[in-house]
Amino acid sequence: MAIDFHAHANRYTYAGRQAAGDWPDAMRGLIDPTGMRVVDIGCGGGIYTAAWARLDAASVVGVDFSEQMLAAARERNSGANVTFRKGDARATGLADGCADVVFSRAMIHHLDGLDDCLAEMHRLLVPAGLCIIQERTPEDVELPGSPEHIRGYLFERFPRLLDVERGRRPTTAAVAQAFVRSGFPPPSGATLWETRQVHRDGTGLADDLRGRTGRSILHELDDAELETLIAFIGDRIPKGRPVVEKDRWTLWSASRD
Ligand SMILES: C[S@@+](CC[C@H](N)C(=O)[O-])C[C@H]1O[C@@H](n2cnc3c(N)ncnc32)[C@H](O)[C@@H]1O
Repeated sequence: MAIDFHAHANRYTYAGRQAAGDWPDAMRGLIDPTGMRVVDIGCGGGIYTAAWARLDAASVVGVDFSEQMLAAARERNSGANVTFRKGDARATGLADGCADVVFSRAMIHHLDGLDDCLAEMHRLLVPAGLCIIQERTPEDVELPGSPEHIRGYLFERFPRLLDVERGRRPTTAAVAQAFVRSGFPPPSGATLWETRQVHRDGTGLADDLRGRTGRSILHELDDAELETLIAFIGDRIPKGRPVVEKDRWTLWSASRD
């Protein structure tokens, strides 16, 4: 069953960690955020909204359609230059040209189509403002499991989950085409291995998996299947040592003309 973003039980699912150092490095490779006005669409618990603020953005507005996500975001992130507001990715309610950077991470695969969201991002940007989308494509998802790429083990153990991902993950080309249809030039593409979390050991990772934290795909497994998966992964990672968990992402970026 797909995750319900509006359920109280899922309030903290995207609020329990901080962006690791490789993420700010990647953003700084695209733009100097100092003094920029940033909008983070589908902000969840505000992990990346806060990360933009730490990059010295002048202001960051996190937008999400879920009151539960926004409640967690407000509770966990209180910087003076960070605000959160309810809005849909396709109609945020924000003013034309209010942003120098519009960013969205791990959100577009939850949409039915990409064009309305990209058109909204285009509307929010000032001329020369930068649109950045971070998402996992089918190619990112299908990379094999390893003690760093834990997510790959999910599909090794439960291949049916790959069908779910193939059904919802946009391809690199589909995202690029949506940029162009929405008035952007063809976007630049890049990949990023982002450290998701450093778990103290396999037990810490198991606890995180058991909570289905920040991994909507795990809502497709029942509790017994999830325990099977945890055991499967436990057999494949070193015992008694920290687990540095990384995911591979695709980044698309284009400036508004
Ligand atoms: C996988 S979470 C990612 C959260 C955050 N961007 C992150 O990377 O930690 C996806 C978020 O998008 C939000 N979302 C999904 N569809 C949306 C829509 N149509 N409009 C606004 N937010 C949406 C969900 O409520 C959820 O908070």
